[in-house]
Amino acid sequence: MSAKYETRGDVAVISLDNPPVNGLGYVTRVGIAEGLDKALADPAVKAIVVTGAGKAFSGGADIREFGSPKSTAEPNLLSLIAALEASTKPTVAAVHSVAMGGGLELALGCHYRVAAAGAQIALPEVKIGLIPGAGGTQRLPRVLGVETALNMIVSGEPVKSELLAKQPGQKLFDKIVEGDVVDTAVAYAREKADVRPMPLVRNLKVEYPNADAYFQFARNTVGAMSRNFPAPLKCIDAVAASTKLKFDDGMKVEREIFMALMVTPESKALRHLFMAERAASKIADVPADTPLRNINKIAVIGAGTMGGGIAMNFLNAGILVVMLEMKQDALDKGIGIMRKNYEAQVKKGKLKQDKLDERMGLLSTTLKYDDLKDTDLVIEAVFEDMGVKEQVFKTLDEVMKPGAILASNTSTLDLDKIASFTKRPEDVIGMHFFSPANVMKLLEVVRGKKTAKDVLATVMALGKKIKKTCVVSGVTDGFIGNRMIEQYSRQAGFLLEEGATPEQVDKAMEKFGMAMGPFRMGDLAGNDVGWYIRKRRYVEKPDIRYSKTADLLCELGRFGQKTGAGWYDYVPGKRDAMPSKVVTDMIEKHRADLGITARKIPDEEIVHRLVYALVNEGAKIVDEGIAQRASDVDMVYITGYGFPMHRGGPMNYADTQGLFNVVQAMKRFAANPLDDAGFWKPAPLLARLAPEGKSFS
Ligand SMILES: NC(=O)c1ccc[n+]([C@@H]2O[C@H](COP(=O)([O-])OP(=O)(O)OC[C@H]3O[C@@H](n4cnc5c(N)ncnc54)[C@H](O)[C@@H]3O)[C@@H](O)[C@H]2O)c1
Repeated sequence: MSAKYETRGDVAVISLDNPPVNGLGYVTRVGIAEGLDKALADPAVKAIVVTGAGKAFSGGADIREFGSPKSTAEPNLLSLIAALEASTKPTVAAVHSVAMGGGLELALGCHYRVAAAGAQIALPEVKIGLIPGAGGTQRLPRVLGVETALNMIVSGEPVKSELLAKQPGQKLFDKIVEGDVVDTAVAYAREKADVRPMPLVRNLKVEYPNADAYFQFARNTVGAMSRNFPAPLKCIDAVAASTKLKFDDGMKVEREIFMALMVTPESKALRHLFMAERAASKIADVPADTPLRNINKIAVIGAGTMGGGIAMNFLNAGILVVMLEMKQDALDKGIGIMRKNYEAQVKKGKLKQDKLDERMGLLSTTLKYDDLKDTDLVIEAVFEDMGVKEQVFKTLDEVMKPGAILASNTSTLDLDKIASFTKRPEDVIGMHFFSPANVMKLLEVVRGKKTAKDVLATVMALGKKIKKTCVVSGVTDGFIGNRMIEQYSRQAGFLLEEGATPEQVDKAMEKFGMAMGPFRMGDLAGNDVGWYIRKRRYVEKPDIRYSKTADLLCELGRFGQKTGAGWYDYVPGKRDAMPSKVVTDMIEKHRADLGITARKIPDEEIVHRLVYALVNEGAKIVDEGIAQRASDVDMVYITGYGFPMHRGGPMNYADTQGLFNVVQAMKRFAANPLDDAGFWKPAPLLARLAPEGKSFS
């Protein structure tokens, strides 16, 4: 049973016991219900305390159960809360550490609530595209007032118990405790043992004058912020019901909204990503208890675009950093940019001046490799050139202490080759950050053929410490993300040749939800980066067909925002992309040279050609074992490439379309003589799953 039962004199204590966060899965619910029955049947018991064992009161429902018969099997959360309310002996929730979602709703069903100071209180359902579904939207406004409750429900953000307890007129907590919350709750339960009638949150009135005006204001604000997600606005509808309807009728409204949201693609996508994020940190052959190497001080080589951002991640986490460059002026320039970045945060009020000083105080600089001797990990971020990498790694091999981890931030080079420059390839790993490295969430952790398991485990843990989403990738050209983006870019090029404009393609993709279409993205990242890679890649693989438009653009020196012109024109100092006559002429001339008559390409075709290009390559990457699972590919695209969250990532999007339909579309694209039939040959994994009606997940 996932709940423990004990008696302390005349008080029964039921402790949820389902590590790590006492999720309210079926077995835990049964355990609580049985504890309650036992306490009610025992004449020696006068009152009941409900609490959580270990590190949480309760983190809420078990979302793995959602959609399965287990989630509604009796006792479900609603009937459990009803049983607590109906208890003939007083119930006291002893809340500590974390009380979220269903956990908080359970506490709201008790007659009294005693909370430890510092407990995190939240109804975070909106983050998985839902509203609270076990009375949260009806009970929280009754104890905290409409505005505080709505803020918590719409944002899903946790608030500390003692802050909530300070709200004038609040009825959420009867007591805030600094010491042992269960001891206090037991004493409190004894105090209330004979008090009748017992208070119920459902009987409280929600009083809110001017409710309509307030909810209208809330709808305007929330609607503007939550454009692709239905749940936030629905939170308002549910809370509004608490002000207008009787409790039981409000509960019906909540239930209807909850059930309707459960089947939306947006909620499914968010739940998929919630699980995907947790799955990504697991590595099949690396046990969770693998001993980690100690990382107290790190080194970064190269103070360029990436080096500075990478260093900031570690400084932010309180880790000592030493930065190495070839020349003092490069070092000065790099450090200057880092300081400016921090100063901008101070100006915006996002960082305190003393924090800036503290962080910069953790940084030292050097021109000598000797100064790296006491570091536990080094991240190389020098020029993307195998010769330079060779020289750097040979030197590192000589100077770094035994057991130090040697990481490369290379985007495209063969990590196994880099490892081979050292006599300790087991200590070499890829840490592929994304630009700007201090902002982007994604860290591709590249596992070389010889990378030791403890090195991998250490870097995954370190990545978490610097607040990155880590996804493991095997060694392949471009790793997971960039190998896929190459196919996306190739399709984007074909679309231009066939008749689309950069604006049309970007608009279609942005409407689909991408943070930026492929051409605006190219202008931001620098079109020369891809040009350089294509020169290397397509010289090695001359049979690969691709559109030369991007090369022609670079030949015009139009590298993007940094040169003031790319696929679009830019006014100096501004980032607004303006359609360019030069580019239109260039594309039209190229089309004429190829003898192509432009056709109008529907937006849906644009979206599907670009997204399915990602999906097909993603399927190959999963099949080859480069990515551990399809959901890892989704995490890469959500956290590193601006793929819309409400689509759940490219692989999840393909699942929602049905893999059979994806393959059918690919067949249509392959029949287009201007496209590349070979391009659209379904990846083996896709070809296997589609006819069986299966999905990637
Ligand atoms: N720019 C990106 O968007 C991006 C994204 C991910 C990964 N990367 C990778 O990160 C690495 C660095 O890229 P970047 O964009 O920061 O380049 P950059 O040119 O901005 O910076 C490279 C820095 O390394 C220094 N350097 C070169 N050789 C050195 C050596 N032998 N010893 C010490 N310092 C040396 C240079 O002086 C320069 O300051 C490359 O491997 C690149 O592929 C770049």
